[in-house]
Amino acid sequence: MKNLCSYLSLIVLVALSCSESPSFLDVRETVIGKTSEQYHDLYNQTRLEIDKALRFPRTIDNGQIKLVSNYDWTSGFYPGSLWYLHRLTGDSIWKKRALEYTKKLDTIQYWTGNHDVGFMIECSYGNALKVAKSKAFDSVIVQTAKSLSARFHEKAGIIQSWNASEKWDCPVIIDNMMNLELLFHATKISGDPRYYDIAVTHANNTIKNHYRPDFSSYHVLDYDKETGAIKARNTHQGFSDESAWARGQAWGLYGFVVCYRETKDKRYLEQAVKIAGFIKNHPRLPKDGIPYWDYDAPNAKGTPRDASAAAITASALYELSTFITNDEDRYLDFADRIMLSLSAPDYFAEKGTNKGFLLKHSVGSLPHNVEVDVPLNYADYYFLEALYRSESLN
Ligand code: GLY
Repeated sequence: MKNLCSYLSLIVLVALSCSESPSFLDVRETVIGKTSEQYHDLYNQTRLEIDKALRFPRTIDNGQIKLVSNYDWTSGFYPGSLWYLHRLTGDSIWKKRALEYTKKLDTIQYWTGNHDVGFMIECSYGNALKVAKSKAFDSVIVQTAKSLSARFHEKAGIIQSWNASEKWDCPVIIDNMMNLELLFHATKISGDPRYYDIAVTHANNTIKNHYRPDFSSYHVLDYDKETGAIKARNTHQGFSDESAWARGQAWGLYGFVVCYRETKDKRYLEQAVKIAGFIKNHPRLPKDGIPYWDYDAPNAKGTPRDASAAAITASALYELSTFITNDEDRYLDFADRIMLSLSAPDYFAEKGTNKGFLLKHSVGSLPHNVEVDVPLNYADYYFLEALYRSESLN
């Protein structure tokens, strides 16, 4: 009788486990192995270009890997991904490769041409410093913060994103929230509070001016740099001026999570939670958690999703979940749901395909018909970061 009971319980357990779909935790280790295989492939296809001007893989264009220069806004993501592969696998080959590519970005520390130096240097040198201390790399972070600070307008209290154009005098984009981490980092290294002060001033004005009552964000604001008055609220990569461009929502979420981590000012945590709520509860967010390229894009068959927005969101949510004592909105589960979807064949490339990039189906700029439904190096970077962050949380 005892044997029969044990036998029946075993059958019930097996039946239960067969009927349940896998959780992200079930697949995490396998996915880490696959990321490594794919990036060996990407590395082998591009390593001979490392000493040429165009060296960093960004996407696939016309069936070929598109390589970009140091000055491309995405140049830090490839070295950053190599650093995460090292931290995920413990394999020193990735560290060697990450260092090679990181050092190629050396001159960016002096560049004041736009705000993206925060992305470029924090993802490369910033990640290098998480692996090993280095005075030389500390000084790259501080010099980059000096360069970025040259774009800060004291009276308006914002960092100018792009240079003036026919359309805008002093454009600030929501993406700029992502460059603040480097400023916080520079103050920690140097002890100079100016970088920290610029970061919080920019973040406060972003809360005040960039966000709508539903906690969605505009993409581009044109400021009067003398008075701080807002001259226009527009989009560049979204569906319309009043729409919620998916990656912009993800940049804002991630940026305010970083601001809370670095300042412990509750306003930033509240802002991050509200943005996370906008994303998670959006009626047009598909069940798999991967948004369309814009939350307000017309509801048509074939409207592209944006895996990059999903990966950035998942990574931000993992960190956000560590700051919430009672995660009643279940942001950790939401992040796992996104990661499970991104790890499945619909989004994660089959071995030997996608030219070695990890994720398919991202959108660079649909209104410009550029990089629509393609792999993007920053989708891969935030996917790897989310994989790394998920380890200590589940
Ligand atoms: N920061 C540029 C973009 O997200 O496309």
